[in-house]
Amino acid sequence: MSPRELPVVEFPAPVSAAPGAMSSPADARLTEFRPETRALPSFFVWTLGCQMNRSDSEEMAGRLLASGCAEAPSMEAADLVVINTCAIREAAEAKVIGRQGVLARLKTANPGMRVVLTGCSVRTSNRSGLAKRYPAVDMFLRPDEEPELIDRLGLASAQAPVGALAMTAATTLVKGAEVSDAAHLVRARADAIAAGAVLRGSAISAWLPIIYGCDKTCTYCIVPFSRGPERSRPFDEIVAEARALATAGYREVTLLGQNVNSYGHDLAPQPRFAHVQTQRTVGRAQDRTARPDLAELVRAVDAIRTSDGVPAIPRLRYVTSHPWDLSDRLIEAMADCPSVCEALHLPVQSGSDSMLRRMGRQYTIEHYLERLARIRDAVPGVALSTDIFTGFCGETDAEYADTIHLLETVRYDQVFAAAYSERPGTPATRLPDDVPAEVKRRRLVDLLAVQEGIGLERNRAWLGRTASVLLDTVVPPRAHSHDDDGDEEAASTSASRDAFANLPDGIAHLLGRSRENKLVHVAAPASLLGTEADVLIEHAGPYALRGRLA
Ligand code: SAH
Ligand code: SF4
Ligand code: F3S
Repeated sequence: MSPRELPVVEFPAPVSAAPGAMSSPADARLTEFRPETRALPSFFVWTLGCQMNRSDSEEMAGRLLASGCAEAPSMEAADLVVINTCAIREAAEAKVIGRQGVLARLKTANPGMRVVLTGCSVRTSNRSGLAKRYPAVDMFLRPDEEPELIDRLGLASAQAPVGALAMTAATTLVKGAEVSDAAHLVRARADAIAAGAVLRGSAISAWLPIIYGCDKTCTYCIVPFSRGPERSRPFDEIVAEARALATAGYREVTLLGQNVNSYGHDLAPQPRFAHVQTQRTVGRAQDRTARPDLAELVRAVDAIRTSDGVPAIPRLRYVTSHPWDLSDRLIEAMADCPSVCEALHLPVQSGSDSMLRRMGRQYTIEHYLERLARIRDAVPGVALSTDIFTGFCGETDAEYADTIHLLETVRYDQVFAAAYSERPGTPATRLPDDVPAEVKRRRLVDLLAVQEGIGLERNRAWLGRTASVLLDTVVPPRAHSHDDDGDEEAASTSASRDAFANLPDGIAHLLGRSRENKLVHVAAPASLLGTEADVLIEHAGPYALRGRLA
């Protein structure tokens, strides 16, 4: 085997004695024994999809780094390409299928190169067809198998025990379908944290996964099949990870889950949570008695304080919430905790009750609006965002009009919208996908136009006001053209670039988010990167704000 060639092991390999290059040996005299780094593959992780995938990729990259591999600057320069896929819509999968030719050419140029494909596109049910769909890929891992990456590549070593080791991925049955079981991802996360094997993409904002999987009943969605049932991480482990992030100087933490606000229902009851008595008022019944919930967790993270008594992590967020579990307890916690940002993402999917029934969402618009009214009351100035998709099975003009009416009623700050895409194996495949593609698309375009007007109006309300902005990006003077899915953001960035074309020395074009999750451009000293700055808003577009230091 040439040094750059990776074996592809189909089953977890025994722990080998292969060299692992840990960052710096404890004893300086051992420096000379560091293995030749070129002997290990350099890796590139291509991440598609949601924040959960981003977080999973941080863990895979961390494991690879801890096993001695180096991060490559690009896919072209890498010996190992890990593709973390999203299956939410056909377009997300088409993006990866479309790259197979490029990957095949890269493999011809670098015969030692290996491609691993993981994420939501890999399921037990479709495994046999994957090699044909993705011909350039050498190995497929379901999301629950990601911790095995190191072992399967033969990269595990005694010095860097960050592979799955004794851990074995598992599946479980949901409505007769064999799906991933994330139970051991909970343990794998603890091991990765203990080994320092999480390569965080930012030193300012951190993702913190708290619950994996999805137990919901949405008929159109692939996620329960890709990710399996809900599995919560232990309460104290999450608080400990948050404390470590605070100590490391993180200014913002986002608690993550496909259904972040159903956190804790699957954990064992404990006397210390005896006061937790949340009952669901919609959706499938659930016994939450004496189990931790998101409200409890948010309060515990908010309670990590500096010696001055302020939250050590100034900004706490959580995504994605489901209307089933937006409890009064959670709304109260949001109102009480100074670190919790004044922003809530609450996907609605459609403004029509009949559509919501077909979608299996199990709430009504009346219930949804009652929750929004409650949160607007409890958290003044809260920014609201949502997810919607157009053209689901049987959607009539009247049902679509209900969705537009909902947008005009709620006046969201931001809407993430798409056209319905039928996903193999989901319950909705039994309904006719009968809205013509052209109608789906036209409804989507019209909906986005309506929302653009509303977003602009919501943003204009900020003119003349001061926003607290966590500055996390320096915008380079010239445009980059390779942004994957940031079209609107890219347009707003390019407008601000023009406005900041001739900045004096020492002043940079910085970008950040307000507590309400608004993108804000500002010209400021680059030394302010990583801090929260007060910005006086002077310009508002539909997708971003611009201002100067107040
Ligand atoms: N768990 C979150 C959403 C995760 S998926 C929730 O339920 O709110 C992100 C979004 O993708 C969904 O909110 C939905 O709007 C969209 N989506 C899911 N399946 C889809 C499909 N088959 N076609 C189009 N959009 C879809
Ligand atoms: Fe998909 Fe529904 Fe689960 Fe969200 S709640 S991930 S839309 S099944
Ligand atoms: Fe996509 Fe999976 Fe997230 S399908 S949206 S990457 S949970």
